[in-house]
Amino acid sequence: EKGGWSSFMAKEVSEEPEAVANTIRGRIHDSAVVIPELDGLDELFAGTERILVIACGTAAYAGQVGKYALEKWARVPVDVELAHEFRYRDPVLSAGTLVVSISQSGETMDTLMAVKYARERGAKTLSICNTQGATIPRESDAVVYTHAGPEVAVASTKAFVAQITALYLLALHIARVRDSISAADQARHVAELEAVPAKIAHILEHEQERTTQLAHWMADTRSVLFLGRHVGFPIALEGALKLKEISYIHAEGFAAGELKHGPIALIEPGQPVFVIVPSPRESSLLHDKVVSNIQEIRARGARVIVIAEAGDAAVLPFADEVLRIPLAGPMFEALLAVVPLHIFAMGLATARGLDVDQPRNLAKSVTVE
Ligand code: BG6
Repeated sequence: EKGGWSSFMAKEVSEEPEAVANTIRGRIHDSAVVIPELDGLDELFAGTERILVIACGTAAYAGQVGKYALEKWARVPVDVELAHEFRYRDPVLSAGTLVVSISQSGETMDTLMAVKYARERGAKTLSICNTQGATIPRESDAVVYTHAGPEVAVASTKAFVAQITALYLLALHIARVRDSISAADQARHVAELEAVPAKIAHILEHEQERTTQLAHWMADTRSVLFLGRHVGFPIALEGALKLKEISYIHAEGFAAGELKHGPIALIEPGQPVFVIVPSPRESSLLHDKVVSNIQEIRARGARVIVIAEAGDAAVLPFADEVLRIPLAGPMFEALLAVVPLHIFAMGLATARGLDVDQPRNLAKSVTVE
């Protein structure tokens, strides 16, 4: 039930800290990730030559975030593919391919058919799912449940952060089995992950009002662009999808580095652009490149809304608005930067008088192909 909340979406965004915490719970032992459901699969992970992530919609963006962690930590090549594209192109699958499906409902027909297809062709399948006993986990060799709790609003929010959390846990679990990162790095990332729920709660407490206010000021805007780099890139795509889904405004996400290869042509005076800025602490190179992207679009009149970590002053001279996220490791910024984007989409849809829980033309779970 909605409790005191104006919508299920508002309630579910407020539950993002618990969604992450509950997904982590019971999966950390001695500062390392040990997922009990994956007990007995060490040989499979040791022999995995390639991971193929399949999903649709928001879940596919979680997969794109997960790719950065799986490759960086587990050192396995990863491809992320939309489930409905995968099955119809005669894909190459081998016994060394691990197919990881991601689905909140566990019932999305496109994803289910892709899992069955992969299995029939000899791949091992692992499902990341939020619904106990759903069809996709039943059709998979292994399952890692997200524990976000039931998600009612059509647009996925708390399930998305839980999916990223599960992918990070999976990456660290496989990294431990394959010995591809040191125990010290494993412990550091575990600590960073465990710190995420409190950091999301901090954003909800300190940036919710301002982000919602900003959305209200922008109620009449016709298009919003989102830029990000590294894990901020799929988060930009997610920010754009959420806005399309519930506010019916044209929105596009881009990799910031792609700006000069096309999207900058879209920038005209007044165009709102969200920019997710990577931390300057880990890679000043990436940070500085995104800051120069901001300068480029600002020079062409864009209205720039920056999401940057606390204390990053380099963005101040070029930003119209700055939304702050707490300091986190580079991978973990994804779980923080998405929070203001969820709040913004919800605020804009509300300002336009729309039903945020039941957007037109969309269903929570699409059980047809
Ligand atoms: C869409 C929903 O139809 O399905 C999206 O509207 C969701 O919100 C997508 O991301 C995938 O759903 P699931 O249940 O497979 O994660």
